[in-house]
Amino acid sequence: MAQSNWRLSEPRIRIAPSLLAADFSRLADEVARIEAGGAEILHLDVMDGHFVPNISFGIPVIEKLRPRSRLFFDTHLMITDPARYAEAFVKAGSDHLTFHIEVTSTPETIADQIHALGASAGISLNPGTPVAAIRKALPAVDMVLVMSVWPGFGGQKFIPSGLEKLVELRPLLRPDQRLEIDGGIGPDTVGAVAAAGADTLVAGSAVFGRPDPAAAVRELEGLAREAAGRSSQV
Ligand code: DX5
Ligand code: ZN
Repeated sequence: MAQSNWRLSEPRIRIAPSLLAADFSRLADEVARIEAGGAEILHLDVMDGHFVPNISFGIPVIEKLRPRSRLFFDTHLMITDPARYAEAFVKAGSDHLTFHIEVTSTPETIADQIHALGASAGISLNPGTPVAAIRKALPAVDMVLVMSVWPGFGGQKFIPSGLEKLVELRPLLRPDQRLEIDGGIGPDTVGAVAAAGADTLVAGSAVFGRPDPAAAVRELEGLAREAAGRSSQV
């Protein structure tokens, strides 16, 4: 397997830059910049033009980036048939695969399949999907990804109902299970999502849209940790 040589230690607040907002003409350089800046996770948004009305990138891009980076590859599958492609995405170098509950009635089976391939598994829910839809599957996964925009495009505005879902989910998760939020995360929203219980904060435009992406990672992480610290003292 071609995964990075490390596993994420227990959840702590981390910014996960989304490659979707990077300059696609020089991906390896973009990845190197955020890696040098201290990021540990790279969020990879895979879109199939069916589950979402957009097409991004897929297996060959991940495969080419793998030897160029030691980051934890957190692959977000916005595709209608994750079971069919899971093996190829893990073989390409994904450390983790997240699939959407909206595409399956057997989430535990997909999570087991991903684990058998040697990767960790996450389940995601769209803004219109209630937490109840994934409740039964929670013990089977390593991570939950709350979408705070409708998936398909970067640069959208944060939908506040994501905060309620984080608050609802956190007590349902074991301490080793990550709680990730994705969409519209930037300086104005990062504190609120961290205070609501998210530990992995995906940021596309707020990182790669800035002149210094490495500094943006550090700044956002600082704001998030401060807000999480404040909320735990209450
Ligand atoms: C949306 C993707 C997100 C997106 C986030 O479909 O899942 O990961 O890249 O982009 P920003 O941070 O710009 O909202
Ligand atoms: Zn994503």
